Amino acid sequence: MTERRDWSQLERWDRSYYLHSTQAAAEHVFTAVDSMDGNYFTLSDGTRLLDFQSQLISDSMGHRHPAIHGELTRAMERYGHVLFGMANEYRARAAKLIVEDVLGPNSWAGRVRIFASGTDAVECATNMARLYTRRTVILTQAHSFHGMTMGSTMMRGYRNNLTPQGDLSAVQDVPGFPPHGYIPIPPPEPEDYQASGTLPSIIATEQILRAIGPENIAGVITEPMLGGGGTFPHKDYMPALVALARKYGILWIDDEVITGFGRLGEWFGYQHWSGLAPDLLAGGKGVNSCALPVGVVIANKAISDHFERARWWSGSTWDGHPLVCATIVGNLEYMLANNIIQQVRQRGAYLKERLDGLKPKHPSIGRISGRGLFQVIDLINGEGKPIVPEDRFSAFTGDLGEHPNVIVYKEMANRGVFMGGFTPNTLKLGPPFTVTQDDIDLAIDALDAALDVIDAKFGKTGARPRSN
Ligand SMILES: Cc1ncc(COP(=O)(O)O)c(C=O)c1O
Repeated sequence: MTERRDWSQLERWDRSYYLHSTQAAAEHVFTAVDSMDGNYFTLSDGTRLLDFQSQLISDSMGHRHPAIHGELTRAMERYGHVLFGMANEYRARAAKLIVEDVLGPNSWAGRVRIFASGTDAVECATNMARLYTRRTVILTQAHSFHGMTMGSTMMRGYRNNLTPQGDLSAVQDVPGFPPHGYIPIPPPEPEDYQASGTLPSIIATEQILRAIGPENIAGVITEPMLGGGGTFPHKDYMPALVALARKYGILWIDDEVITGFGRLGEWFGYQHWSGLAPDLLAGGKGVNSCALPVGVVIANKAISDHFERARWWSGSTWDGHPLVCATIVGNLEYMLANNIIQQVRQRGAYLKERLDGLKPKHPSIGRISGRGLFQVIDLINGEGKPIVPEDRFSAFTGDLGEHPNVIVYKEMANRGVFMGGFTPNTLKLGPPFTVTQDDIDLAIDALDAALDVIDAKFGKTGARPRSN
């Protein structure tokens, strides 16, 4: 029997006391989830929606997967919290699963640390790059997304400093503390797609690199497919960028928080290119399907060794939390035993086929890109240009209800599917790995109808909504 909840009272409390994101109070639309189950969730008004973006392209095995929740339930019989100075069963099992079973015993990977968020993982990876190279600057792609905190390590006190191997009286601060050295490089688009020879973004990146001086640069952080921005790069982009990092002796930090653990039809996005091996990899989301807050850093063997031998004043209350680690164990053991990567490839191929089938019918469909179960559609107007001209540079001002992704979101919701996008012209499709062919058909039919609305509104005239 379903328990009844007083949603009008809950709405009052939520509106009054919760500090909300992305919508101003005056425009806030109260959308409450009452329950979640598999690939679907149910709103407080009883509406049931197919989750075709796995919340934030994050809940990879759907909602409340029995393998994950089962392991969590078992872990809760024995564990609460264990501080990071002590080991626990699930931390050891999760680390072994990631380094040995997922990446393979002879891979580049040395050690992993487990956190409470992808942001923590990115912070840790960039600090490790600085400590390891003794340099300051991190190069970062425009349109990328790596998290939303700043400042916690700028407070005085323990702040990630390292006492190196062989000299326990020495202290090495994180170079560039307080941090100032984040320098953008071009994103892998749009000129790259039309280019021949060395890609324009790579030429520009090398110029930036030389202007700063590689001796000042700790590393370059990249996403194999931009998650927030929603771009899969030109096939030559990643190998060329990594070759630049190698040529100039800077580290490559591969942020796979959104793409990692199967999303793109490989365990990690970088594996779409042969011969690439990151120096540091940040992960999160899909490692436990977001059953609990999570992030991971994997370091290559040399870097792992460097930090493991040192006395490194780092850590958070939540590092290696047994319950978080239990959800990783439940998730990864299930994925390995059931060849979920192959499932992602098959269902991703079907999704792509259905999307390609929509293209001739809808002039608003521009480029379709992505891999596995993360596909992206760029919407264009009658002139073949981005409908909102600012496109991925949008500052999210003006009437967001007029942005094509928001229009599609509403049309999809009216047809039982949760899916939208982040930047105005980009639709992101990222269903759970457990999505069925029927689910995909339902979503594509809804999208077909939603795109009719976009075609009619923006297609013929090339009309553009005001965005600021
Ligand atoms: C590529 C990437 N890095 C880092 C993050 C931050 O992770 P979290 O939200 O778990 O802190 C995200 C979140 O979406 C992400 O997509």
